[in-house]
Amino acid sequence: MTYRYSRIVGTGSILPPRIVTNQQLVAELGSRGIETSDEWIVERTGIRQRHIADEGVTSSRLATEAGRRALDAARLDPSDIDLIIVATSTPDFVFPSTACLVQKELGAAGGAAFDVQAVCTGFVYAFSVADSMIRSGLAHRALVVGAEVFSRILDWNDRGTCVLFGDGAGAVVLAGSDEPGLLAAKLHADGRHESILRTAGNVCHGEITGHPYLTMDGQAVFKLAVSVLDSVARETLAEAHLPIEAVDWMIPHQANVRILNATARRLHIPLSRVVVTVDSHANTSAASIPLALDQAVRDGRIRAGHNVLMEGVGGGFTWGAVLVRF
Ligand code: UT7
Repeated sequence: MTYRYSRIVGTGSILPPRIVTNQQLVAELGSRGIETSDEWIVERTGIRQRHIADEGVTSSRLATEAGRRALDAARLDPSDIDLIIVATSTPDFVFPSTACLVQKELGAAGGAAFDVQAVCTGFVYAFSVADSMIRSGLAHRALVVGAEVFSRILDWNDRGTCVLFGDGAGAVVLAGSDEPGLLAAKLHADGRHESILRTAGNVCHGEITGHPYLTMDGQAVFKLAVSVLDSVARETLAEAHLPIEAVDWMIPHQANVRILNATARRLHIPLSRVVVTVDSHANTSAASIPLALDQAVRDGRIRAGHNVLMEGVGGGFTWGAVLVRF
């Protein structure tokens, strides 16, 4: 059986309970001689706090809990799912995939399970792949998760990056339907920019080779992000034959409130229609969009019939957008 569309039938998310405020982080870094301030972080990024996973809490654990909550919201059992895709850049292992670990924990054996690696665009990539697989008949109901423990790949001596990120997971259940659904999707990458944002480490002959911490040319990423979030939004709306005014909610990747503001301004979308979580979650990479989505669904902002534009951008360099009718 094939379907014309896939629809979101449930959302879920989880944040680790430990909150680290800017003040706490500034004090901790200061005790090690690293100078930063709450004013700098808030003014340059909009971030006020982040959630940090305790040692031993893995991406698969966060992904499993977010997935469970999305399945509960969809009133489905794990056995109803025949596809699990986890977008993550902080997998538990080199292999097996985080998705296979989630499948085991949920008790959803039998269907396909794999990870997608597109860094902060990972959820948008994973969502589009799941939609294509449902429409082609390869799957009927999919769990799509973005899960990260970025705190593990941060260099806590690099003030230019360690203040920016947090941990968490968000998930959606997608089901085949003849009603829309995902209206349009656009995915892009330009590997020529691979060096501006990366964690260039690996395991080789039993040792870590390269640099196992995140490095970033912040200004280069900032400029590219603002430009591609604008262009990919227009491209995706054109594909759906819809004007910008048809967007009820925009959920850009939550990296920096200045990037969100600039994107909204360029697209002439009022800030009141942009979901913003970067202030309280910081940048959770592939988890940021589904975390924000779940928050806006659960607090009643996103309702049946709304058009939601989700946009990702990040390392690779990768970017993409999906336009979804609820
Ligand atoms: O998820 C993937 C997508 N990632 C992003 O989208 C991140 C994009 N980039 C950004 O958000 C911004 O570029 C940053 C927030 C990373 C940096 O903001 P900026 O306005 O571009 O600052 P900058 O890198 O130009 O640095 C300005 C100054 C520098 O000092 P000097 O050279 O002017 O003396 C930095 O050393 O701010 C300094 N600085 C800090 N000062 C206090 C850098 N980090 C800090 C810090 N506290 N934590």
